[in-house]
Parts: sequence; C-alpha cells; structure tokens
Amino acid sequence: MLDTLAIRTQRTTASRIAERDATPLEFGKVFSDHMLVVDYRAGEWQEAQILPFGDLPVSPANSALHYGQAIFEGMKAYPTAGGGVALFRPLDNWARLNASAERMCMPPVPEELFMQGLKELVRLDAPWLPRVPGGALYIRPFMFATDGMLGVRPSESYRFAIITCPVDVYYTKPLRVRFEQQYVRSAEGGAGFAKNAGNYGAAMYPTRLAQQEGYHQLIWTDASEHQYVEESGTMNIVFVIDGKLITPALSTSILDGITRRSVLQLAREMGVAVEERRVSSREVIGALEAGTLQEAFGVGTAATIAPIATIGHEGRDYELPASAPEALSQRLGAALGAIRAGQAPDPHGWMVPV
Ligand code: COI
Repeated sequence: MLDTLAIRTQRTTASRIAERDATPLEFGKVFSDHMLVVDYRAGEWQEAQILPFGDLPVSPANSALHYGQAIFEGMKAYPTAGGGVALFRPLDNWARLNASAERMCMPPVPEELFMQGLKELVRLDAPWLPRVPGGALYIRPFMFATDGMLGVRPSESYRFAIITCPVDVYYTKPLRVRFEQQYVRSAEGGAGFAKNAGNYGAAMYPTRLAQQEGYHQLIWTDASEHQYVEESGTMNIVFVIDGKLITPALSTSILDGITRRSVLQLAREMGVAVEERRVSSREVIGALEAGTLQEAFGVGTAATIAPIATIGHEGRDYELPASAPEALSQRLGAALGAIRAGQAPDPHGWMVPV
C-alpha cells in the first residue's frame, strides 16, 4: 500500500536511546523516542501526528478511566538479516483491534491509518530495536474514549495511539502455573475475545493470589463449570499429548491469538496432528498421571512460546518433562524465529517490511 496520509512528525531533540541498553531490559518500562497520536472527533479521524513520547492529557471525567472503554493490541517488529526491520502479521493485529473496537462501541481504525502510522513510527524508532537474541520492538497500539462526561454511554471522541518499547526474552524460566477454579477471566458472551483493558485489570487479583502461592500464572477455566481450559495468564495455551497438539477451540471468551494462529499453522505444516477443541483439567491431569502429557506451553505476542514446567491442581503440583531441543515447543519457536529473522522462507507473507 502506498503512503497516502500526511503524518505530521515532530522529532525529539533529546533522544533517550541510551536507556535501551539498561540491563536487564524489563518488559514495558523503557519506551522509544516517539509515539503516534490520532484523535477521533465529530465522526472523523483527525490528522495523525508523530510526537516525542510523553504524557497524554485527559479529562478527569474521561470515560475510559471510569467505565473502561479502552482497547489495545500487542505486536512486534523484528530485525531482519539485511539490517532492516519487519512487522509480524500487522494486518492481523489491525483486524483484531477493530474486532475489539466493535465490541466496545468504538470506531474502527482505517487500515491505511493503522499501517502507515505504524510503519512511519517504527521506521523512525528502528534504532531502538535491540539486535540481540530474542530482541524485538514491542508495539502497543491502543485506543481510549476521550469524552469528559460521566454518562454511561459510548464516548463520542477517542484517541488512537501507538507506543513502542525495546524488549528481549519475556519469561526467562519455564513457568509454574495452576488451574484457577474460583475466579474467571471471562465468560461466554462476555468480552474475553477482545483486547479490552478491563479483561487484564480484572485478572490481576486472582493472578496475585496464585503468585503468592509461588506460581507465575494461572490456567483460566470456563466460567460455568471451572473444568475446561481457556488461556494461561495473558497467553493462549497448548498441550502436547501423545504427539498431538491440543488447544482450546476459540470462543467468545478466548482471545484469538496471532501467535496461537501461527503456531497451529506451523505445526500442521510439520505434519503434527492439531486438535482445537475443549480440553478439561481432568484430561490434562489424567495425561500427566499416565505420562502422556509431553509438553505444555503458553503462546502469545509478548512471551512468544513459554514452556510450562509445573501444573498445580487441587493442592498438588505435577512436574512436566524438561523442555529438550527436540520438543515441539522448541521446534515451533525455532521455525517462527527463522521466519521472523528472514532466515527461512515466508510462504504466508507474514513479515511486512517497514
Ligand atoms: C501480549 O502478549 O502482547 C499481550 O497483550 C500480553 C500482555 C503483555 C498484556
């Protein structure tokens, strides 16, 4: 697509890029120099601007603050072999942002605005991309209501923005997770499939309880019976049982993860049997007891592929086999990594140069 929008750009006069080399690079704490900001008013998107990264003023009556009319995306840009930068499946994120927007009564972001704004921003801050193993520029597009009005109704004005941050490996150790059987992340018919702010805020308390017990994350289960697996923490979850890759089928309560989608496709192309269906905690624990559960891992943008070492259930911890180089999670991670780095063919056109 040709660049057709005029994006007003105000470059920073004081780059903070030295902050990037702070170690360890903690996820989401250091932000690149610029951000894209676009307002929606009177039924129209206004001029897009790239500005130095900074605070955004809001009315104290802003309905995103009071009623949570706010959505976001998570995506990444990767360094390519020739010294360039490429985005991973950006149109999938654009489509999902707009699915979330519809669920939250927010206006859709036009493709041209999303793609051109994203590319210009990433081009400008490309030097921030850490060219280290596992390094990427994490990109956070988001939109929030800006009406200063306490009435409980959809806002009439919005702000869409994109910020980016340099990241490296998200989880450095295999995860300890446990089944959650009291709290729910989302219910059928709710907004769990959307990336709206409230889904993540409401998950913090049960997650904190699990962390106080020594787990990193939860395995969320369905709202009505607490039997069927939904997601793990902020990731989709995959099990390898008897050589088959099994993952919960999508529903209105499960996020349609782009890493999930990619991993399932790569697994199918490797000849692995893939089942998208209901998976109960009973099936997982049964497979652990029978020794047929070979692997479990989370898949998500921030974490990519995060092997699970321990699954807790009803007060007991079950240990999984250590993740060996021949493990499916490792092979899928390597295949995905090679496509992202431009070291393997990209037959599906997932990588989009900026
Ligand atoms: C992501 O993986 O991009 C997420 O959205 C998870 C989290 C960092 C909120």
